[in-house]
Amino acid sequence: MAAEKWVLTVTAQTPTNIAVIKYWGKRDEDLILPINDSISVTLDPDHLCTTTSVAVSPDFTHDRMWLNGKEVSLSGGRYQNCLRELRSRASDIEDEKKGVKITKKDWEKLHVHVVSYNNFPTAAGLASSAAGLACLVFSLAKLMNVKEDHSRLSAIARQGSGSACRSLYGGFVKWIMGKEENGSDSIAVQLTDEKHWDDLVIIIAVVSSKQKETSSTSGMHDTVETSMLVEHRAKEVVPKRIIQMEEAIKNRDFPAFARLTCADSNQFHAVCLDTLPPIFYMNDTSHRIISYVEKWNRFEGTPQVLSSFSLKCEILILCRAVNKLVAVLLISHNRKAAAQLLQRLLFFFPPQSDTDLSSYVIGDKTILQDAGIQDMKDIEALSPPPEIKETNTPAQKYKGDVSYFICTRPGRGPVVLTDESLSLINPETGLPK
Ligand code: ADE
Repeated sequence: MAAEKWVLTVTAQTPTNIAVIKYWGKRDEDLILPINDSISVTLDPDHLCTTTSVAVSPDFTHDRMWLNGKEVSLSGGRYQNCLRELRSRASDIEDEKKGVKITKKDWEKLHVHVVSYNNFPTAAGLASSAAGLACLVFSLAKLMNVKEDHSRLSAIARQGSGSACRSLYGGFVKWIMGKEENGSDSIAVQLTDEKHWDDLVIIIAVVSSKQKETSSTSGMHDTVETSMLVEHRAKEVVPKRIIQMEEAIKNRDFPAFARLTCADSNQFHAVCLDTLPPIFYMNDTSHRIISYVEKWNRFEGTPQVLSSFSLKCEILILCRAVNKLVAVLLISHNRKAAAQLLQRLLFFFPPQSDTDLSSYVIGDKTILQDAGIQDMKDIEALSPPPEIKETNTPAQKYKGDVSYFICTRPGRGPVVLTDESLSLINPETGLPK
């Protein structure tokens, strides 16, 4: 190490992911080892991501982290597990410009600072810990020159937050549950990259919920302790579904993908209901969204519009449990169907009068343009969808029941950001900018 003052930093950006075959239930709570394989799609980090800068300096007296502008403790077991695993794999580094050399041995004594931002509203609870822990592990691995591939890093991220292991890759990702007691084979692997199926459009409706929160950790624990269904799911259902899902993804077979995703989501909710005390992640709004979309699919599926049947049935719904809010995830096979879906959603769930459109529909704004919606007046002017008109009952609207919509698509895995101006850490002080 050089004698003068120095700070070395690395900045990285990592995506979040959403499961299409769900992880629910652990066989080891400390190592975070699941009872079944799971498969996810990585969401485009241009819309939802975590950015994390990490720094090392001999002046740092202890490991510190600032999350979304506030200092938070790194003393939790999960953070400590990740830090310990990374430190034990750190290698020598040399920064010639700064005249700094750090040896493997030095890393045992050096402390790090971590500054992280999630670019999506934290209140949405949208798997922020997946993107966050993946970004923490990825950026520290770069800083510490950890010479391990993404799969090995995924096993470290897994110990911070289970689903974080799947955020180490873009596209479609499988988390293999593994068999070893020490978790060494419980890793994520990429099934296909994000370009493989790039016409998928993902719309997430973040639904306000007044329900009592159940954290995933305690919910999963209760399920494994009390549900009779979960063992059947993990041992009999998921292994077959994983094979079918891999095939559907490989062949870009949307009807099969939709069927498997919906079936898995429904079974996940059934397992939650089979838990003592029962866990209810869906609320009236999520049920309403599902039944509107079902109605639309059925309407378009009548013989008169046979030609558009395959197009419209390509809207799929799954509900995802998040911390305080409930999100309904809708994936459509193409942009035309996605724009029609968004029109319907905005018709039934218009924003509160004082909300502006840019904060009500976030992410890929081009879907809004495709839907012909430029401002609030366009939402007010939307006419009831034809499948509702048929029933001769006035369509009921639920203003304010959706907090906001996110439009996105499959995206890339983690990247290092080399542009210094994007760093969240002051390179002189090692503190947040
Ligand atoms: N938990 C939630 N978001 C996080 C982040 N960005 N970094 C670390 N932990 C997190």
